[in-house]
Amino acid sequence: MSILTILHYPDPRLRQKGEPVVAFTPAIQRLIDDMAETMYAAPGVGLAAPQVGAPHRIFLVDVAAEDEPSNLIAFINPVLTLGDGEVVGPEGCLSFPGVNEDLKRAEHVRVRAVDRAGKAFEIAADGLLAVAIQHENDHLDGVLMIDRVGVLKRRIIQRKMHKRALELA
Ligand code: NI
Repeated sequence: MSILTILHYPDPRLRQKGEPVVAFTPAIQRLIDDMAETMYAAPGVGLAAPQVGAPHRIFLVDVAAEDEPSNLIAFINPVLTLGDGEVVGPEGCLSFPGVNEDLKRAEHVRVRAVDRAGKAFEIAADGLLAVAIQHENDHLDGVLMIDRVGVLKRRIIQRKMHKRALELA
């Protein structure tokens, strides 16, 4: 396994939509394994394939607390159904280092997806898991946390990220 480079905003590849996975090739399974290693090394609680420049509809989440056993879930070709109720809470993103914003999300979400072995599954989620799923699923559509904040906050984050990109260039 290897650690992949996580793309940072404003990298245009973060805006690419992921394509559905049609074959569970060794390359796709390797990508999932590398994404897991990359996510844990970051560390982060979620990572979507477009964030590592792989335009596929794949994301991983593990929202287990530090003192709990890890609980990695791979979602391939996920389809979300948002339930009633909204929550507002802080979110970060590995593609926006140092940025934390309160975002509004559905409180409950139901997901149909396929796992790493190509087997269909369905789960209902709430709390942190529901938020992480919605955040990561956004990445598959090229939607970023910056799209879900107000105009003023968006400008501040854009300025911060552009400045950071220049400093690192
Ligand atoms: Ni993110």
